[in-house]
Amino acid sequence: MKVDGKDMRPIWVDAASEMVQVIDQRFLPHKLIIKSLNSVDDTIHAIKEMVVRGAPLIGAAGALGVYISLVQENNKGADNDYLISECRRLKDARPTAMNLFWGVDRVLSVALTHENYGARVKAALDEAFKIVEEEAVNCQKIGEYGLPIIEEISKRKKGEPVNILTHCNAGWLACIEYGTAMAPMYTAVDNHIDIHVWVDETRPLNQGSRLTAWELGKHGVRHTVITDNAGGHIMQHGMVDIVIVGTDRTTRAGDVANKIGTYLKALAAKDNNIPFYVALPSSTFDWDITDGIANIPIEERDPDEIRYIQGLCNGKVEKVLVPPETSNAANHAFDVTPARLVTGFITERGVCRATESDIMSLFPDKKSGKKTG
Ligand code: MRU
Repeated sequence: MKVDGKDMRPIWVDAASEMVQVIDQRFLPHKLIIKSLNSVDDTIHAIKEMVVRGAPLIGAAGALGVYISLVQENNKGADNDYLISECRRLKDARPTAMNLFWGVDRVLSVALTHENYGARVKAALDEAFKIVEEEAVNCQKIGEYGLPIIEEISKRKKGEPVNILTHCNAGWLACIEYGTAMAPMYTAVDNHIDIHVWVDETRPLNQGSRLTAWELGKHGVRHTVITDNAGGHIMQHGMVDIVIVGTDRTTRAGDVANKIGTYLKALAAKDNNIPFYVALPSSTFDWDITDGIANIPIEERDPDEIRYIQGLCNGKVEKVLVPPETSNAANHAFDVTPARLVTGFITERGVCRATESDIMSLFPDKKSGKKTG
């Protein structure tokens, strides 16, 4: 996507140095800082501390992390045990998003088919690049399949703006290009459909007010930042036509893990008869599980992310303490929205209802390894 006229992605490999580089998302929208990932430790730190974040992006970072593990240790790169243990460490960086395990395992399995060190490095890099490019195309297709849903509302409203509510950041910063939830919005705007986006600020790290608002602004999309608690009120007053969110892991039966607060939006949407769509590439489905509440691990992050809030102060990005110094805080980073609250999924293969049979008929080739609840 373009930032001030320049093509940008949140992750890339620098052609001259062959180093993996990323946008450090912790400082957006106030500072655009680029960071190199020089080692597996750097990559794990970037994923854990959310230098890079968003399910498809951490899948891509994990995939490139396998390549990084091979170049950082050229004396150990041909050693299978070393490679497998570095991949284990990468996959342990965050627990909820499916894409991280999917991306790491996919590159690992290709790398292990080569015994020769040079061939192994090349195969790992080629596979990681393939993942990056495939995910970019998947997001573009999500945009194309999501377009008719927005178009239909626009026609019904006779061209009046379609009001879309979104939570967290499921745009190109969280993916490679376009985004998941935001891909249909960008495609609608590019097709001259008038839209307006309600952007949940998404406490505690404000991926909505910092990242989604920044992305939309750079693309010239009309948007308004709201508090996380405002959704129910604006839905009751006819100010939301559709909710579109992304997901970090979705079960084969359609339960959706996404940023904390998503479940409440889905409940409010159901109560107000507002369609609630989830946009995702197939890499985000967990084909092994059906019951998301019982089986999706929910990350608990540092309580200081709740206690301190970050913003721009006198030209510097600063953090300030909000609650009393002695108060405890708990930071549950994701929640699970049951399939019964989801109107449909927008995927790279089309749109389907949130039932196991509809999902599996869109993805008949995806097999469950093991079956748990
Ligand atoms: O903690 P984050 O910022 O990595 O969480 C990201 C989300 O919850 C997104 O909604 C999700 O990854 C959507 S897919 C682009």
